[in-house]
Amino acid sequence: MKIAILGGTGNIGKGFALRWSQKHDIIIGSRDKERAKTKAAEYNKIMEKYGFDALSIKGIDNKNAAAESDIVVLAIRYSNVSSIIEQIKPVLKNQIIVSVVVPMEKDSCYMIPDRETIEIDTQFREYYKTNYFCYNNPPSGSAAEEIAALLPEGVSLVSAFHNVPAAKLADLDISLDYDIGVCGNDMNAKKVIFDLVRAIPDMNPVDVGPCETSLMVESLTPLLINIAVRNQRKDIGIKFVD
Ligand SMILES: NC(=O)c1ccc[n+]([C@@H]2O[C@H](COP(=O)([O-])OP(=O)(O)OC[C@H]3O[C@@H](n4cnc5c(N)ncnc54)[C@H](OP(=O)(O)O)[C@@H]3O)[C@@H](O)[C@H]2O)c1
Repeated sequence: MKIAILGGTGNIGKGFALRWSQKHDIIIGSRDKERAKTKAAEYNKIMEKYGFDALSIKGIDNKNAAAESDIVVLAIRYSNVSSIIEQIKPVLKNQIIVSVVVPMEKDSCYMIPDRETIEIDTQFREYYKTNYFCYNNPPSGSAAEEIAALLPEGVSLVSAFHNVPAAKLADLDISLDYDIGVCGNDMNAKKVIFDLVRAIPDMNPVDVGPCETSLMVESLTPLLINIAVRNQRKDIGIKFVD
């Protein structure tokens, strides 16, 4: 399959590109095609180090990346969603759109200061002893519902991967024994994404429900970060046990 990762130059996009490039054609999307090309070359080099010689990752602009793909992952911040969808809308036909978006912007969460002022990990942890991250509820309930409302008819949205820490996803030496909540209204599209979850070693997809349930999964991300910060843990994920 061809998978476009819009904003694939960023934190979470890198991990998806590396993990899926072993079995799929990956297209890194960016606002700047040169940046996309540079990142794609960097990711291919990493894959070569791990013994994969196929240069299956390429980089182009967001719109062309979406146009060429079967699956389009929105690896961008909540505040950039509407402008990116506006750009790619003309080329959307029957692709599956995947939202990993958590509305948790630093500027909209009044307790989070400018990251530049908190340079080292200890200061960061000290600050969050008295403060915490919060989920910033979008007007329509969740990022997924907001995105679904912007898509043309016939284009399915699947919401997943919200609780996966970017650093661990991009580290191919780490196996990710996490459950991944998957939400959406189109069961066939969800099954395709279940397989993409299973393509990452030890990850397990769990069906959470229709698009409206995405709020529950999205809002777990600030919870995980708060727990990590207060309990000297790092990059924690979710596993449901019977
Ligand atoms: N980081 C995590 O651990 C993590 C985990 C789970 C879910 N998520 C979710 O994944 C999404 C991306 O997070 P991230 O940490 O990867 O973000 P990020 O690195 O800050 O940004 C991702 C990409 O967004 C693009 N971008 C920046 N400003 C933009 C603008 N004004 N308009 C359009 N595109 C813009 C940039 O790509 P170009 O400059 O190349 O266009 C950038 O590389 C977020 O919604 C987040 O909630 C993140």
